[in-house]
Amino acid sequence: MASTFLYTLSAIAILVSLTSVSNACPPSDRAALLAFKAALHEPYLGIFNSWEGAECCHKWYGVSCDPETHRVADINLRGESEDPLFQKAHRTGYMTGSISPAICQLTRISSITIADWKGISGPIPKCITYLPFLRIIDLIGNQLTGEIPADVGRLSRLTVLNVADNHLSGTIPRSLTNLSSLMHLDIRGNQISGTIPRNFGKLRMLSRALLSKNKLTGAIPNSVSYIYRLSDLDLSLNQLSGPIPASLGKMAVLATLNLDGNQISGPIPPTLISSGISTLNLSRNAIEGYIPDAFGPRSYFTVLDLSYNKLRGRLPKSTLSAAYIGHFDVSHNHLCGAIPAGSPFDHLEASSFVYNDCLCGKPLKAC
Ligand SMILES: *[C@@H]1O[C@H](CO)[C@@H](O)[C@H](O)[C@H]1NC(C)=O
Ligand SMILES: *[C@@H]1O[C@H](CO)[C@@H](O)[C@H](O)[C@H]1NC(C)=O
Repeated sequence: MASTFLYTLSAIAILVSLTSVSNACPPSDRAALLAFKAALHEPYLGIFNSWEGAECCHKWYGVSCDPETHRVADINLRGESEDPLFQKAHRTGYMTGSISPAICQLTRISSITIADWKGISGPIPKCITYLPFLRIIDLIGNQLTGEIPADVGRLSRLTVLNVADNHLSGTIPRSLTNLSSLMHLDIRGNQISGTIPRNFGKLRMLSRALLSKNKLTGAIPNSVSYIYRLSDLDLSLNQLSGPIPASLGKMAVLATLNLDGNQISGPIPPTLISSGISTLNLSRNAIEGYIPDAFGPRSYFTVLDLSYNKLRGRLPKSTLSAAYIGHFDVSHNHLCGAIPAGSPFDHLEASSFVYNDCLCGKPLKAC
């Protein structure tokens, strides 16, 4: 009897220890997480208070593991969140310190989100390009400096690269166009300079390319128009020059094209006007020539902003056949002649047309 009892007891003990072993963090992952935590300082919310003990996979805030390998798979730390931690503190997150290269010892990690902490500085550790399972890098809204790692193109599974709103400099790494799984690229609001790689169009899976508010120079590569899935292209507020490739107007699903605030010259390709693009901002460039007489029933613009350019001639008659033009702005150009009277323009105010050479008619003065 007693021996059976002891036997059962030890069986239970083994079972319990087995479950706690399988729940436990692999010691190397645990050490890497603790070194990562040690390089950061989060004074207001206590997000790292739970980072103690052996169960990093279940009890540590923002950490999760692969259910089969029990290796750390995700770090998900967002400074703007609905989590009760934030509601209790009545504030958004703030964190200083840097991203420790110890993160690269998490060799099975697939997603690194360290977003909107406002105060994290220092570089993106170069070694992250040796994490072969990485799918998501989201470091938006910090104060990171240095460059996008030159070897980023090694991350063959990467689908999201978001480093927007930091202080990154340097150029777009040439290897980036090797990211054949990349769907979402966001480098907005940094100080990235140099040209957009000529072979940018190799990024065949890309659906959003957001590069605005940097210091990019040179021309818009023609190859961009090979990206079949691209729906949102934002190159605004850079120093890009040269013409608008006409092929942009032939893209299958391109819906938003923002090129405003550059030094783009040459004419507006008629293809852009008859395309499926619904948000087109070409404001504040050096675009010249006539507004193409290419509007038709397919032209449906929620935004068509052509202001602050060097456009001349008349507003084309075909504008009247557009399906819809919401926010329309041709102010600050050299246009002349009568504003066509008809439904697309009925709702517009004078501010859409002011500062031209001799435009006239409603809502401006009669011709
Ligand atoms: C891109 O990938 C190819 C094939 O793996 C490789 O030969 C090339 O060096 C890579 N390009 C860059 C710039 O890393
Ligand atoms: C178009 O771009 C200009 C210049 O960057 C900006 O001021 C304007 O608000 C944009 N237009 C719309 C409708 O968003």
